[in-house]
Amino acid sequence: MAKPNSVSNHVTVVVLLVTLCLSILSSAVKAQLVSDFYKTSCPNAESTITSAVNSSFNKRRASAPGVLRIHFHDCFVNGCDGSILIDSPSEKDAIPNQTLQGFEVIDAAKTAVEKICPGVVSCADILALASQLSVKLMSGGRITWKVPTGRRDGLSSTSASVSGKLNTPNDSVAQLKSVFAGVGLSTDQMVTLSGGHSIGVAHCSAFQSRLGTPPDPTLDPTYAAALQATCPGGTTGTSTNTVNLDLTTPTNLDEVYYKNLQVKKGLLTSDQNLQNDAETQPMVAANTNFATFGPKFRDAMIAMGNINVLTGTSGNIRLNCRKFN
Ligand code: HEM
Repeated sequence: MAKPNSVSNHVTVVVLLVTLCLSILSSAVKAQLVSDFYKTSCPNAESTITSAVNSSFNKRRASAPGVLRIHFHDCFVNGCDGSILIDSPSEKDAIPNQTLQGFEVIDAAKTAVEKICPGVVSCADILALASQLSVKLMSGGRITWKVPTGRRDGLSSTSASVSGKLNTPNDSVAQLKSVFAGVGLSTDQMVTLSGGHSIGVAHCSAFQSRLGTPPDPTLDPTYAAALQATCPGGTTGTSTNTVNLDLTTPTNLDEVYYKNLQVKKGLLTSDQNLQNDAETQPMVAANTNFATFGPKFRDAMIAMGNINVLTGTSGNIRLNCRKFN
């Protein structure tokens, strides 16, 4: 009678050990961010970053959309590891990154937090926290969340690493889907995060190819004429002017961007394509309701902020966000 029992005890122990090993292995593979990571290591980190970032946004409001875009360009290239913040030669040299703006916001927050807790808070976390503050400000406080933290900074930043990781403004829906799927985001999350284009600006070069004679037929003719006045010279025009991505409510992060797409007033081809594709058109329609768009944008931002993060002892904590230690 004793023998079968000891065999089953043995099997139980082995099963428990295997389960333990698997769970240790999976937690090592899937890094986890947490709420209030700096609670004990730097209790005033988040309040200090919040003050510094908000004061930068008050000095230069155009930096708020800029910071949101920097975070997106950081997360899509080797994960949210602050590698976009490194000065040239770096990811900053790649074409889509040459129009990024708002880096001074991150510098100001880093300087402030280094004063109270040297070498503790990562640049990647500062960027994620600043993006939430950008969204909160630009949505008039309607979209907010508690940013999970604990990211560490990456040790590499090259222009070559950007290749194929960020979409171009002429991309088809298939190309948009493929890049987002590459970082684990769904088509619906892609459509929702494109709502980031309800704030900020684009240079003429980003949509000049739509301004021929006649202009792109997917562009409302009156809107096309206004764009041609700001960005003259047809498809080969070289103006360096900028235009609001959302012509109706350019300073509000809201659902109006999607309503513009429904009336052929999306600025970038990649935006307008979302309305002209059978799969994404209903997602555009759903997001014209803020009650749907707001929570979905929040959740998609959290998902984006989790892409391939470095935690634990991976990477390091940079002392100056623009330079490797
Ligand atoms: C779906 C693929 C996307 C493409 C092809 C794309 C492309 C672009 C382009 C070409 C610009 C204009 C840059 C310039 O000329 O200065 C821009 C601006 C911007 N993008 Fe995107 N983007 C995409 C997704 C996103 C996402 C996911 C976000 C954030 C959630 C975002 C946030 C922004 C913001 C806020 C601006 C304005 C930046 C400023 O005013 O400085 N974009 N994007």
